[in-house]
Amino acid sequence: MPLVIWSETRSVGDDRMDEEHIGLISLVNHIYDALETGADADSVRRLLAALASAAARHFHDEEEMLVRAGYTGLAEHRAEHAGLLQQIETVREEVARLAARGLAPDVGNLHRVWLLAWVMDHLEGADADYRSVIAAASPSAA
Ligand SMILES: [Fe+2]
Ligand SMILES: [Fe+2]
Repeated sequence: MPLVIWSETRSVGDDRMDEEHIGLISLVNHIYDALETGADADSVRRLLAALASAAARHFHDEEEMLVRAGYTGLAEHRAEHAGLLQQIETVREEVARLAARGLAPDVGNLHRVWLLAWVMDHLEGADADYRSVIAAASPSAA
C-alpha cells in the first residue's frame, strides 16, 4: 500500500512541478515498499540514489521557477531544499554502513516517519506556500 497518494489538492498550480512531485512521491512509495517487504540493501540503495538525483533535479527546477516568479521566500525555500537533500544523504550513509556490516536496511518506524515527513514537509509546507505566487505570475491565471 502506498505511503503517500498524490491528488489534485496537492497541486501547486504548475504542471511541471506537479509532475515532478508525483515522481518524488512515487519514489518515496517505492522505498517504503522496499523497506516494508525486506528488500536487500542494494535495491534500497539504488532507490535512495534515484530519490537523491530526482530531488536534486526537482529542487533545481523549482528554484529556477521561483526566481522567475519573483518569490520572496526563496532563500528559506532553498535552505529547506538543502536540508532535505542532506537528510537523504544521511539515510544513504546509514544504509551503506549497515550493508558494509552485512545487515539489511532497517525497516523500523524511523524510516516510515522520515519518508512521510520528507514528502509532507516538502509538499504541504514550503511548496504549498508558493502556490499563490505562481498563480499571480501565471499568464493563464484567472
Ligand atoms: Fe520545494
Ligand atoms: Fe517541490
